[in-house]
Amino acid sequence: MNTAEFDFSFLEEGFSAKDIVEQKINESSMTDDRDAFYVCDLGDVLKKHLRWARALPRVSPFYAVKCNDSRAVLMTLASLGTGFDCASKTEIQLVQSLGVDPSRIIYANPCKQVSQIKYASAHGVQMMTFDSEMELMKVARCHNNAKLVLRIATDDSKAVCRLSIKFGAQLKACRGLLEKAKELGLDVIGVSFHVGSGCTDSAAFKQAIADARCVFDMGLDLGFCMNLLDIGGGFPGSEDADIKFEEITAVINPALDKYFPVDSGVRIIAEPGRFYVASAYTLVVNIIAKKVLIDDDSASDEEDEGIIDRSLMYYVNDGVYGSFNCILYDHAHCLPTLHKKPKPDEAMYRCSIWGPTCDGLDRIVEQCNLPDMHVGDWLLFENMGAYTVAASSTFNGFQKPDIHNVISRPAWQHVQQICAQGLPVPAESCMLDVPACCGRERNLEIPSKSPQAHVV
Ligand SMILES: Cc1ncc(COP(=O)(O)O)c(C=O)c1O
Repeated sequence: MNTAEFDFSFLEEGFSAKDIVEQKINESSMTDDRDAFYVCDLGDVLKKHLRWARALPRVSPFYAVKCNDSRAVLMTLASLGTGFDCASKTEIQLVQSLGVDPSRIIYANPCKQVSQIKYASAHGVQMMTFDSEMELMKVARCHNNAKLVLRIATDDSKAVCRLSIKFGAQLKACRGLLEKAKELGLDVIGVSFHVGSGCTDSAAFKQAIADARCVFDMGLDLGFCMNLLDIGGGFPGSEDADIKFEEITAVINPALDKYFPVDSGVRIIAEPGRFYVASAYTLVVNIIAKKVLIDDDSASDEEDEGIIDRSLMYYVNDGVYGSFNCILYDHAHCLPTLHKKPKPDEAMYRCSIWGPTCDGLDRIVEQCNLPDMHVGDWLLFENMGAYTVAASSTFNGFQKPDIHNVISRPAWQHVQQICAQGLPVPAESCMLDVPACCGRERNLEIPSKSPQAHVV
């Protein structure tokens, strides 16, 4: 593998990513800069991969690059042998620049620009999704070797971010689309769906898998060699989600066994984004300004008793035009944890938290209870790896926070071991007689050169 350099640090034995947050805060507090920053624990990405393999042994993850395209994350996942879901030419370029083989890429955007289909074709990327006749006609014109995957719509009404309002063919349209593909001489190899990002309803997966089976049967009927099921994304990325990952997989596995049993020979992939990266990232911001508002209504009585009711406005150095774009685009609710832990009897105030730009829209928290803090104090936001850095801007000239990537040596060695040997086959898969590496893509190449690391 062409292991392009990326910057990360090894954790000293006994130290965790939390200790690095502390260290960076201490270092930064000695200067006047106090810029916002991230700490990304790449060991957490490894943990997610192992959790995925345990819970979904039949499903090969193709990480959705759009969720977080940081090189360190992509390199880690490439070393772990995942595939990649790319939405554009630039994402394909990025993933291929890491030495990933085109067979490990699915171009999972059903509505693509012609020049970008040509780019995929020229660079060996064959798997791509479609959900309309027009897309089939474009592919027929400019990609001879495309292996097409028909994206179907799902019931995503219980997802935080709905996708089937924009993408996915209705079941009743599928036969016509497959017939058109046949007429154009195209190769349809399977079906994909996405139940919506932040899915809270495991039944949506079950229904979508059953629907995919219907479309498979239509394809087989028309003479296509249907051998790929792509169950998309939608998996939770942090423990505070409304549904646990394993609650969802407990529904997916029996549905796969029912509709796509092992002996069907169908390869199953997924496009998880949030699942892999959300919990790996902690964002640390600094309070750059503060306002105290006197609450007129309650002041009168309480003032007599010497208590003035106040609410506080804190301004911090990252906002909705930066990392907190997830509030607008990803419907995220972000609440801080405090760097200085409040005393048990410390007074709390009604507070709002605002980003640094001059826009009134730039509000991170409308109302929460916080103690009286000062300019220069720090706030931490956990679970900030998904749909944050990927879409942030430098509006008003505010720079994006630096990302400090860390990993423990044992975790790093584990990544290298998986890179060289693949994942061990779980006992239950052996009993099911699943081929080696539990059907997961296996990356047998050992990085020729380790990325640059230093010890923190
Ligand atoms: C086609 C596709 N695949 C995968 C994903 C990743 O979804 P998630 O982060 O919910 O796993 C998305 C997210 O929008 C998507 O549009």
